[in-house]
Amino acid sequence: MEKRGAMVSNKQMSLRDYVSCYPTVDDMEVRREEMKLEVPRGSKAVVVKNLYLSCDTYMRLLRNRTADELLKPYTPGSPITGFGVSRSVDSGSPNFRVGDLVWGTTGWEEFSLITNPEGLEHTDVPLSYSLGILADNCCSVFLFGMPVMTSYVGFYKVCSAKKGEIVFVSAAAGAIGQNVGRFAKLTGCYVVGCAGSKEKVDLLKNTFGFDDAFNYKEERDLDAALKRCFPEGIDIYFNNVEGKMLEAVLLNMKVRHRIALCGMVSLYSSDSHERVINLMHAICKRVRIEGFAVYDHFAAYPKFLEFLLPHIREGKIVYIEDTAEGLDDGPSALFRLLNGGNVGKQLVVVARE
Ligand SMILES: NC(=O)c1ccc[n+]([C@@H]2O[C@H](COP(=O)([O-])OP(=O)(O)OC[C@H]3O[C@@H](n4cnc5c(N)ncnc54)[C@H](OP(=O)(O)O)[C@@H]3O)[C@@H](O)[C@H]2O)c1
Repeated sequence: MEKRGAMVSNKQMSLRDYVSCYPTVDDMEVRREEMKLEVPRGSKAVVVKNLYLSCDTYMRLLRNRTADELLKPYTPGSPITGFGVSRSVDSGSPNFRVGDLVWGTTGWEEFSLITNPEGLEHTDVPLSYSLGILADNCCSVFLFGMPVMTSYVGFYKVCSAKKGEIVFVSAAAGAIGQNVGRFAKLTGCYVVGCAGSKEKVDLLKNTFGFDDAFNYKEERDLDAALKRCFPEGIDIYFNNVEGKMLEAVLLNMKVRHRIALCGMVSLYSSDSHERVINLMHAICKRVRIEGFAVYDHFAAYPKFLEFLLPHIREGKIVYIEDTAEGLDDGPSALFRLLNGGNVGKQLVVVARE
């Protein structure tokens, strides 16, 4: 464990410049900067050693110059930020001691000075349960972190899913989709997922317990594929991609059912111009379409844990991660995510303790 006050050569990953076309690995650079592992005197900051970083598709949007209220763009030349698990090396905050394991927003660098530690949480909740799956810190943060919480909020709060309903999930083998499928089965729904490779389709059917799955890249007619999987129509669509898939889903929704707009990964590259052109079907079928942001629901976190922990203890939640080793592999890990190269939750291991 690095000592408080030590000088280190801190490896960092940053954006070279704003990206206006399809992102590439070369948009990012990895370099080193000297850093003293000490919080400024009198401050409430925390210095952390970063262990695991989460790669999320929303990070693509932060590489654009344009900002909005929810998504503030990265600053070229400064380390990009995201969710991660870290170990506290020095702390001026009464909430964190040296050596604490924390998760929250951190920098893509080996060590970060976190001046606003309000966004950090201890990870002791999962670690207090002596279960094999929870012994690995990197797994625990993602089980208890943003992606699974997003699946929970979207499925139960936005879609109000009930036993017996028929559910369709896109990007189903990803961090969020795999859990929506799991929650659907735990609730007694019939669930079908789509993904972009045979390997992922096998995973959906054989590991994540989906009732059926298909490879959308091999389907010439998405409407026909959905009619094959849902002869009676869809009650709930958990949308992670938008574009042509959403168009096909609108043709197959049952009357007065619902769609949760969780993400639109097919639109995240700025050279993509896919747009849904048949929204009229949503009117004719009186479909309720609701977008949501997990950040609005963090107050439900204790309830989420109450729901999740028993299922984990019973071994009913299986979770697959795709790990890149080291910050040097960070640019390609982010790139893989947008190309469907990841199988399961994509993360970067900065350091294994
Ligand atoms: N609303 C919220 O609060 C919230 C919070 C977090 C994330 N999200 C959103 O939820 C969605 C899923 O996130 P995640 O973390 O679970 O990502 P993920 O599934 O781990 O990774 C993205 C996956 O999307 C698929 N994909 C990429 N480009 C695509 C395209 N053009 N068309 C169709 N599929 C494509 C790829 O899988 P395939 O091989 O299957 O194509 C890829 O593996 C994202 O859109 C994300 O932005 C929303």
